[in-house]
Amino acid sequence: MENILHIQIFMISLNNPHFLPSSLTSPLPHLPHYSNSLSCYNVILPLIFLPFSSRVVKHCFSSSSLSIFMMGKVVKSFCFLVFFGVLVEGLNIWPMPNSVNYGHQIMYLSNDFALKTDGSKYNDASGILKDAFSRLLDVIEVDHVIDSNFSHFDPIAILHGIHVIVWSQSDELQYGVDESYKLSIPSHGTQVYAHIEAQTVYGVLHGLQTFSQLCRFNFTNRAIEVHQVPWYIIDQPRFFYRGLLIDTSRHYLPLPIIKNIIDSMTYAKLNVLHWHIVDTQSFPLEIPSFPKLWNGAYSISERYTMADAAEIVSYAQRRGISVLAEIDVPGHALSWGTGYPSLWPSKDCQQPLDVSKEFTFKVIDGILSDFSKTFKYRFVHLGGDEVNTSCWTETPRIRKWLRQHGLDTSGAYQYFVLRAQKIALSHGYEIINWEETFNDFGSKLSRKTVVHNWLGGGVAEKVVAAGLRCIVSNQDKWYLDHLDAPWEGFYMNEPLTNITNHQQQKLILGGEVCMWGEHIDASDIEQTIWPRAAAAAERLWSAYDNLAKDPSQVFGRLAHFRCLLNQRGVAAAPLVGPGRVAPEEPGSCYKQ
Ligand SMILES: *[C@@H]1O[C@H](CO)[C@@H](O)[C@H](O)[C@H]1NC(C)=O
Ligand SMILES: *[C@@H]1O[C@H](CO)[C@@H](O)[C@H](O)[C@H]1NC(C)=O
Ligand SMILES: *[C@@H]1O[C@H](CO)[C@@H](O)[C@H](O)[C@H]1NC(C)=O
Ligand SMILES: *[C@@H]1O[C@H](CO)[C@@H](O)[C@H](O)[C@H]1NC(C)=O
Repeated sequence: MENILHIQIFMISLNNPHFLPSSLTSPLPHLPHYSNSLSCYNVILPLIFLPFSSRVVKHCFSSSSLSIFMMGKVVKSFCFLVFFGVLVEGLNIWPMPNSVNYGHQIMYLSNDFALKTDGSKYNDASGILKDAFSRLLDVIEVDHVIDSNFSHFDPIAILHGIHVIVWSQSDELQYGVDESYKLSIPSHGTQVYAHIEAQTVYGVLHGLQTFSQLCRFNFTNRAIEVHQVPWYIIDQPRFFYRGLLIDTSRHYLPLPIIKNIIDSMTYAKLNVLHWHIVDTQSFPLEIPSFPKLWNGAYSISERYTMADAAEIVSYAQRRGISVLAEIDVPGHALSWGTGYPSLWPSKDCQQPLDVSKEFTFKVIDGILSDFSKTFKYRFVHLGGDEVNTSCWTETPRIRKWLRQHGLDTSGAYQYFVLRAQKIALSHGYEIINWEETFNDFGSKLSRKTVVHNWLGGGVAEKVVAAGLRCIVSNQDKWYLDHLDAPWEGFYMNEPLTNITNHQQQKLILGGEVCMWGEHIDASDIEQTIWPRAAAAAERLWSAYDNLAKDPSQVFGRLAHFRCLLNQRGVAAAPLVGPGRVAPEEPGSCYKQ
């Protein structure tokens, strides 16, 4: 008589009805990869219902009856509802998928664990999938020596690889690309493969990340194990825009550091690297149309060629991450004038950019023209924040120009931003601007503007009420350089706060955590980003109803993810305490 516990966990997204498990819409759930694996369950346990919505409970009922139906011998099935994994140790997936269903058995990864793509429509000519699979093996092994003797394992418990099916032939990465996937891992059989099915290769990449989090190295038998099989996971993000800002002006970030950050973003399913390239302090990027601009770099070595930028874009794209390039105008642009001093209002008053000169807009046009050949994301970020116009009025030549054009300083600010917007549109971009532009003259902005909130709460609701799109980054909660902003605040910051209208909700593209660089360089960036960015990543990825209402419920799971980042070589800081603290005392990574 086997005494094996069968636990099923359901994570259901009630606000994504089109993506609910089919069991909610049909009498019996369709679980194709389970059919071989259920016959061994043999348990008598009561039904336990936690106080969740009746739809969830109904799903639980129907799945239980499936178990009974398929297992034959089973007297009763155990249906256990858990949100956030708090009640079950070991459900350590971050960010939490939409729907998770698992069992209790163990499979061992074969020593020739392979990628299979039979039946896939995607031919992987560029090798995105092949490379992702090879990275998967690296992050699963985390540098342990796998020297197990496979002849000791039951051959039916060996997982031979992953069978990937992609329906779309295209690997164009763009805003709104389908990132959903289904992952299943059968519990035993002959030549068993895990299955990942996705519309696009980028959905598969997320599926591989989830798979990697189900694996662990066993120090007794020196094999990689997957526990709690069979697994059946259905997943997709809540928001299409899940960003992280890096700032290469306040401090230069070497290319390997940027690549490490991109890799670490994939572990948390973030998908946009917002590259704040240039600011007051330095201009590190080569602009072929205006080759003296990068004279504003800190030094001859703290620079990026445009080919370097293209390499970053390609590196990110192969990992499912888009690069959003930013030039911040007309403020935050003093460094432009190192190469072209005529962009300054005067030698003594050096920003904002000179609004009165045609040359200023020629330079912006040159930059955006060069950008459009390399940065292929639908959006370009034009900044527009914190513009102090006093250099315009203090410079007689510009003061005269303002008078001639009948503009006061706020009119000139509006004129500048709108003209820069038109240039961006002419290069095929839609525009993202920081929220001051909306706060000052929102109704004048191009309808293709996305307003980037940062000053505080309450802005997103006004932006979407005005029919514009919005990205949320309110500094009190989502600025990583605010070291006193704790991970709990990152977790609880809800982009749809106070937005109830469904059409308006759709105008929130998502959110972004910002790693401003004043006190950040290669020495401390990773531990300032992680793990707090991960807390926001779950907010942006997971279905609303799967999110914890109290962050203490996810402490253990996030701590586990933080340790996973460390194991993978990412310098994620302890969770205990505010941002970037050192561990307080000796102890397990899982407890700090
Ligand atoms: C693996 O185990 C089998 C059976 O115990 C044994 O015969 C064989 O020598 C082992 N192989 C290695 C490489 O240790
Ligand atoms: C590791 O493998 C051994 C031998 O197969 C097993 O007894 C043990 O439970 C495994 N450890 C974990 C943590 O799963
Ligand atoms: C604006 O710039 C002027 C001149 O650079 C400076 O004196 C002033 O303090 C600035 N104002 C603010 C609010 O920063
Ligand atoms: C949501 O609305 C309430 C009531 O108007 C307000 O007090 C609160 O500040 C708003 N929250 C945010 C984050 O905008």
